[in-house]
Amino acid sequence: MARYLIAGAGGYVGSRLAERLLQAGHSVRGLVRNTDSDTVQRLAALGMSVWEGDLTKPESLVGVANGIERVYNLTTAPLLDLHLVQRVFVEGNRNLIAACSRSRTVSAYLFTGNVASYGDRGDTWLTEDSTVMPNHPLGHIMVEAEQAMLDLIRVHHFPAMLLRVASIYGPGRDFIDAVQANTVPLIGNGRNFLSHIHIDDLIDVLDLLAIEGQPGAVYNVADDEPTRARDFYGEIHERLGLEPPQFFSKAMALAAGMDPSVVGMASASVRLSNQRITQELGLSLRYPSFRVWLDERLHGTPSEELALSVAI
Ligand SMILES: NC(=O)c1ccc[n+]([C@@H]2O[C@H](COP(=O)([O-])OP(=O)(O)OC[C@H]3O[C@@H](n4cnc5c(N)ncnc54)[C@H](OP(=O)(O)O)[C@@H]3O)[C@@H](O)[C@H]2O)c1
Repeated sequence: MARYLIAGAGGYVGSRLAERLLQAGHSVRGLVRNTDSDTVQRLAALGMSVWEGDLTKPESLVGVANGIERVYNLTTAPLLDLHLVQRVFVEGNRNLIAACSRSRTVSAYLFTGNVASYGDRGDTWLTEDSTVMPNHPLGHIMVEAEQAMLDLIRVHHFPAMLLRVASIYGPGRDFIDAVQANTVPLIGNGRNFLSHIHIDDLIDVLDLLAIEGQPGAVYNVADDEPTRARDFYGEIHERLGLEPPQFFSKAMALAAGMDPSVVGMASASVRLSNQRITQELGLSLRYPSFRVWLDERLHGTPSEELALSVAI
């Protein structure tokens, strides 16, 4: 049995990871802002100890990592509030690392960033050694957060790992539902590569890296098959019996008042290589391609029936 701390234990990823670790018999402390949420209450009933805290308030973190061996920082803030995003990713991460350094028991610390730091990179395969080239406000914040963390690793030999996580999907957060609800920002020329990871695979990666990951290392977390946006959404539309997707230019999206980071993220080409997690760690993914999920979700449902449910 190991002792874990999860910051953001009430979130989409955090709650699923907490459940997995509790089921495996580990001790889990969940750092949350809202102790009353149904999710947190459910995890507490499963045995999670709840720590009320806020990463941007260092005084709420005193002692949070005492006796803890492995730490996940799975917090994030709404993309449209960049000031808060900056506070959570840069200051918040630094505050949690400081609290963990003081405890002297932490042997692994994982921070889940995203792929905005890579920028818009065309057809190039992006490995962890590729240079970062942010091209929108969120990307610049991510680089600042990454750099602050990498400096702490270098100067203080803090055993942290940086994960650049692709777009997460799975039950309750599904691109099929998003297409049906017409909420997908289809921006750019459609030739850009999109990288994804299924939540079950992400949980496997988080579990494995805390034990076998290299302190100081960067890990891309994505499936085997980055796909051009027009092919990705084209296939979903076709399977749902819908007309092919229509993309809007970046200029049109910006002129319509869309947030530059949203436009930047939606239109960027990020062809993420997952060789480090699959080859170095020997991980085999349950969802190597989004098509496995498409088949699982849509299996046996005639497309006319789906088209009808979309129309309704
Ligand atoms: N979703 C994606 O596609 C995606 C892609 C790449 C990387 N990631 C990364 O994956 C991680 C997990 O994402 P997610 O989708 O699970 O996010 P989520 O569902 O929005 O959960 C984020 C959690 O962070 C907590 N939080 C926010 N600010 C905090 C603060 N100042 N102090 C303490 N807790 C705070 C929130 O608590 P409250 O409940 O109190 O608000 C929430 O429970 C994040 O680090 C995110 O950046 C996500």
